[in-house]
Amino acid sequence: MECPKFQSKLEQLQEFDETKAGVKGLVDAGVEKIPSIFINHQYIQEKETSFSSAPGLCIPVIDLEAEHGELVDRVKEACEKWGFFQIVNHGIDLPVMEKVVEGVKNFHEMDTEVKKQYYSRDAKKKVIYNSNFDLYQTPSANWRDTVFFLMAPTPPDPQELPQVCREIMIEYTKQVKKLGNNIFELISEALGLSPSHLKEMACTEGLFVVGNYYPACPQPDMTLGFNSHTDSGFLTILLQDQIGGLQILHKNQWVDVPSLPGALVVNLGDLMELITNAKFKSVYHRVLSKEVGPRISVAFVFRMHLNASKVYGPMKELISDENPPIYREVSVDEIISCRYKNGINGIPLLSYFKLNT
Ligand code: OGA
Ligand code: NI
Repeated sequence: MECPKFQSKLEQLQEFDETKAGVKGLVDAGVEKIPSIFINHQYIQEKETSFSSAPGLCIPVIDLEAEHGELVDRVKEACEKWGFFQIVNHGIDLPVMEKVVEGVKNFHEMDTEVKKQYYSRDAKKKVIYNSNFDLYQTPSANWRDTVFFLMAPTPPDPQELPQVCREIMIEYTKQVKKLGNNIFELISEALGLSPSHLKEMACTEGLFVVGNYYPACPQPDMTLGFNSHTDSGFLTILLQDQIGGLQILHKNQWVDVPSLPGALVVNLGDLMELITNAKFKSVYHRVLSKEVGPRISVAFVFRMHLNASKVYGPMKELISDENPPIYREVSVDEIISCRYKNGINGIPLLSYFKLNT
């Protein structure tokens, strides 16, 4: 009998990475047990002990066609109390939303040999596909593959975008930019500032697109689709399909973000918490893995990317003697580099930029 060969964790990670076929490749090969690099001991333990989910609670759903004053009030309340809300009547048509989901699905389901050309961990590229951007940093890998597009301020040449989702990605980006502008205006007003304030701070200039593919998982109780994390940008506009599994951490309980047909999920990120001096909070969220799948989500994250030298700190309009700054100034490059260097490892990204008060 052959001895089973011993493999270190690093060797296992490398072997998986080198397939360039992602989690989908494992599922296609028919795995019935998840490889050990995916086992999330913390999640398994937490499920058995402290963290219960809160079935009664629901994040706010905001109608963007509501009367303006009421709308600003609702956005303010949602940003202060939740950091997460869903929007309806947002102006993006359902068929367009369906086509983006389809486009991301088609990318992940194209011929593996063709898809492999995009596989990379070079975060400076504008089009990247990989499984677990933080594979080598995270304590446990996630049951997820992802394609990333850096769509603004300088988008890739159209030819660089995969043909299977090129047109719809360009069209949807245009629409999300417009919607994003509206939401940043509402948030500016919710902060008591002029509607154009956040736009003038260049918060709407960068757009980093994340196309997630969560294959069906044979052991969903042992691994997550996305470990608990905060988003690094100012704001994320997320489109999820009908499968569900997204949860946010609210008052120490996991609350489901249900899939509502036609709705989009909006959440605040770390840069928003930083510039508002934590008046508005960046909220932890995660995605469960499921026995059914694939689940698709497309996150449009408003932020610039590596190399962006623009510096952000708590806005002077929002700080005072009673409310001194709790974060230092930080460049976009610094905060994004920090995320790539450390991965999602349980340490809050903003803790690296806290002032000693
Ligand atoms: C993300 C994210 C949630 C989801 O891409 O940052 O949190 O539902 N996605 O896929
Ligand atoms: Ni996220």
